[in-house]
Amino acid sequence: MAFNKRIKIKTILDQHPIGSEITLMGWVRTKRSNKNVSFIALNDGSIITNYQVVADPNLIAEDILKKCTTGACLKITGTVVESQGAGQASELHAKSIEVLGEADPEKYPLQPKKHSLEFLREIAHLRMRTNTFGAVFRVRHALAFAVHQYFNDKGFFYIHTPIITASDAEGAGETFKVTTLDIANPPRTEEGSVDFKQDFFEREANLTVSGQLEGELAALALSEIYTFGPTFRAENSNTTRHLAEFWMIEPEMAFYDAEDNADLAEDFLKYLINYALKNCKEDLQFLENRLLDEEKSKPADQRSEMGLMDKLKFVAENEFVRITYTEAIEILKRSKPNQKKKFQFLIEAWGADLQSEHERFLVEKHFKKPVILTDYPKEIKSFYMRQNEDGKTVAAMDILFPGIGEIVGGSQREERMDLLVSRMEELGIPTDEMWWFLDTRRFGSTPHSGFGLGFERMVQFVTGMGNIRDVIAFPRTPGNAEF
Ligand code: 4AD
Ligand code: MG
Repeated sequence: MAFNKRIKIKTILDQHPIGSEITLMGWVRTKRSNKNVSFIALNDGSIITNYQVVADPNLIAEDILKKCTTGACLKITGTVVESQGAGQASELHAKSIEVLGEADPEKYPLQPKKHSLEFLREIAHLRMRTNTFGAVFRVRHALAFAVHQYFNDKGFFYIHTPIITASDAEGAGETFKVTTLDIANPPRTEEGSVDFKQDFFEREANLTVSGQLEGELAALALSEIYTFGPTFRAENSNTTRHLAEFWMIEPEMAFYDAEDNADLAEDFLKYLINYALKNCKEDLQFLENRLLDEEKSKPADQRSEMGLMDKLKFVAENEFVRITYTEAIEILKRSKPNQKKKFQFLIEAWGADLQSEHERFLVEKHFKKPVILTDYPKEIKSFYMRQNEDGKTVAAMDILFPGIGEIVGGSQREERMDLLVSRMEELGIPTDEMWWFLDTRRFGSTPHSGFGLGFERMVQFVTGMGNIRDVIAFPRTPGNAEF
């Protein structure tokens, strides 16, 4: 028999092949023993549920059983038997156990007890072996798969945009530089600045903050495209919603206006939630119970009214609220926390940038629903957004989610050459370097739109995890790039 002729626990739990001889492989979660029998709870990551292995000390040598400690990896062959005990329909009666990898119980950091998420972040290389992280990463996988399913079904094409670029799409100046120059002793120009002409790309280069600009080029050829890749931002934000390396999904569509764009975004988000509800039941149930447990330690008025799955169903079944920035400012101005000076940043006038406290007020307190906020002042948005007739606002769209704040940012794009160029000039964006982007407006321009969904924020919403560092396997944040 080939080494890997094993059956996954998920398959056994689907089929309960009573009477069959099978081989299981996985990691010990717990072992309970008395002198007549040992019960080993085994997990192979295929599903949250552990499978019970029953080992009879008359069949399995004592020195082997001794090594079946928490964290050890085992290969077990035996017979599937209807279970006598409550809690499982079947169990495996072991005929032979091979210890593939021991785990010294004195040293193994994961004990069969509840560890804090903070502690688990310090051992991110092992945390996927816990129930919580197993669940999170299976849900993350399902959501990534659903992204491709959704767009493929709609006839969108997946475009791989570059990770190294020479542009800063969002214009926020938060890029990581990419260079092969000797940073201690770089070549200099006659004026004394670093001579990037001698660098690898013969120009300054950085890690991309967004695939949008290249996505636009593709949309103006293939009509409907999406990107799904890593993006990098050197913003020094130590929050529960920011990463320096995160994954973004950016659909970009020719012949879409702002309303078409919002319709697509709403439909897409609901599809992802429904996909998880349908395909990740056990994991979401586990995560919901985990949250309920966490809630018990909070004061009564801070507990959420809905369980995780009800919250997801609620968002998937109800229409998002659509309001303009101007309407939002009116609501915020009149709001209690603004009048009682409870907001850290008080909303005094039109034009103010919205902080997460304002976004959360609108979503969690005022509307109690996801909100699509549109038509922001042009001063607080990127150069590529389409200018509205009023001369003050742009056809921007942010989608705000409960507990998360901004989950999507997007817009209709400025397709009119003259307006785009004059906006770029106002903002000091070099139009000569961006000739390739402007060529789309020069040749065969058309109304088009797109948006970006922060994938980790979506995984956070669906799993209910409070910190974005706990929904990506190896988080990159200021001061953290260990694993
Ligand atoms: O609003 P942003 O900056 O928009 C863009 O990058 C556009 N180019 C998208 C487009 O129109 N194609 O980012 C989009 C989303 C945000 O709404 C947020 O969900 C997520 O990306 N995001 C982050 N997620 C984690 N960590 C960060 N530092 C993030 N910055 C943005
Ligand atoms: Mg944004």
